[in-house]
Amino acid sequence: MEAATANAATANAATANTPTGNRAGNRAGNSATGNSATGNRATANRAAANTATGDTAAANGTPANRAGADTATGTTVVRPGLDVLVAGVSRIVARGLDARRTAFAVADLLRDHLPGLDVLTPGEREGSPDGYVSHILHAEDAFSICGVVWRPGQETAIHDHVSWCTFGIISGIEYEILYRDMGDHLVEIGRAANHPGEVSGFAPPGDIHRVRNTSSELGVSLHVYGADVARLGSSIRRAYDLPVR
Ligand SMILES: [Fe+2]
Repeated sequence: MEAATANAATANAATANTPTGNRAGNRAGNSATGNSATGNRATANRAAANTATGDTAAANGTPANRAGADTATGTTVVRPGLDVLVAGVSRIVARGLDARRTAFAVADLLRDHLPGLDVLTPGEREGSPDGYVSHILHAEDAFSICGVVWRPGQETAIHDHVSWCTFGIISGIEYEILYRDMGDHLVEIGRAANHPGEVSGFAPPGDIHRVRNTSSELGVSLHVYGADVARLGSSIRRAYDLPVR
């Protein structure tokens, strides 16, 4: 589906469809709450303090707001908790680990420093009736941080990703169905329900999934990608329209 473009008054809007994706296999994540996806879920989620879920559409719209200030409007968007994440992810990517280990290290960071709902403005948290929305909160060559907003029932297309990804759920339930590409069709290989406070990370290949906010409340989540999604326009490498058998 198409992602809605977000334009909150002051904020950056880039939105695109960047669903989060976990794959069966290499994944650091929560094991506590019923994530049934196969694979290595290295760590448990912290206490579920927040509530909501999100996914990442990222693309249309204005370029990312890289410093928390909207230079176009002259306003400053305060995003509690974002600075510590930017600094922490910068340190991790500077280590030059492979993609999987980077995603896992970022998962450890995000688990300890998952922001609250106020990392997004009230306007951004409204979401869109047209689909989930991804707000690019920070973007540079090596990584991007997006806040994704889903209304109940909103979902992504089946897709994979341009880079490693780590995401944490702030509110809602980010329910994933994982697939394997068989060439002319897809097969389902796992499911995972990601709840508030949970963090998961993965790296391609094998990261094909569809994500849906299955809760009755607004979904908000934070996604970190190992690429500049503001420049690329999206964190999605490919959207799949193959039949599922
Ligand atoms: Fe995804």
